Amino acid sequence: MTRSNILFFFETLYTFTWDALLAAINLVTPSLKPGHIVPKGSPGEGGKWPEYIAPKEGDSRCACPALNALANHGILPRNGRNIPFKDMTHACHTSYNFSSSFSYLTVNYAVHMLKRNYNDSFDLEELNQHNGIEHDASLFRQDAHFDPSQAKPHIPYINELLSSSVEDSSSLLKLEDLAQFSAKRRSEGKASNPEFSLGFLHRIFGSSNSSTLLVTFGGHIPALRTFLTEERIPDGWESSVRSRKGLTFAAFNIGTVNKLESATEKYMKSEKPEEKPEGK
Ligand code: HEM
Repeated sequence: MTRSNILFFFETLYTFTWDALLAAINLVTPSLKPGHIVPKGSPGEGGKWPEYIAPKEGDSRCACPALNALANHGILPRNGRNIPFKDMTHACHTSYNFSSSFSYLTVNYAVHMLKRNYNDSFDLEELNQHNGIEHDASLFRQDAHFDPSQAKPHIPYINELLSSSVEDSSSLLKLEDLAQFSAKRRSEGKASNPEFSLGFLHRIFGSSNSSTLLVTFGGHIPALRTFLTEERIPDGWESSVRSRKGLTFAAFNIGTVNKLESATEKYMKSEKPEEKPEGK
């Protein structure tokens, strides 16, 4: 292990402890009231998000709709460049109500991946490093083999997922819809992408990213359509996470990510052709 790996290990261990503490506080404190999720004085307070401007030629964007949306609203620099890592941690915490521990954990993973320091800055496109956090079989980007840029969503995938759900009165995307679509993306990737790879860690990253649609957006299809297609935060929107200290890594993984990954694996197995008994 290099010095930087050892440091990262201890930073992560410390963050898990901090996260567990916040998860415990969430259990014993009352939830935030609707209309009060974004802290006072932060962009998006009361559902009033700063002006949306679509990215221009030369702006830096990544494979993450949530981070691109922050740049599109000017919460992070609009050109997506020279973003201090600590500003991204703060913006994820205030805008999406991710806990401070979970925001730091995710951003610090990016810091480690890019071999930087937490006090440095980066451009959004740097997050597109293939098989860093970005991986094959994601839900709204074609695999890097087909789309090396990763900056823009692949609209047919968004339409396919959002129309796969039976539109009931509340129009909510469900965990089973995500699992089924994710299994389909994984099977298709294996069949069509000669460079396809998706190890355990990236399967979990995939399920974590997809789970945010249920947890942060409550699966609300009209809001997801705006968010995923335009990478825009809808007017009046606020995170569905009501916990006082925000969404912890612990609650997120126990509550949703594990369930989504197991359901996806179940669909993967059911898609495999039945093996013929020997001699037939
Ligand atoms: C905190 C720092 C964050 C970092 C460093 C980060 C980074 C990334 C990256 C690199 C991807 C691409 C993965 C892929 O190949 O599919 C991604 C995807 C995604 N992220 Fe983030 N993200 C962050 C925060 C968030 C937040 C706060 C949300 C939701 C509120 C979010 C929602 C998503 C979703 C839905 C995808 C899936 C895109 C797809 O499947 O095509 N991310 N993220």
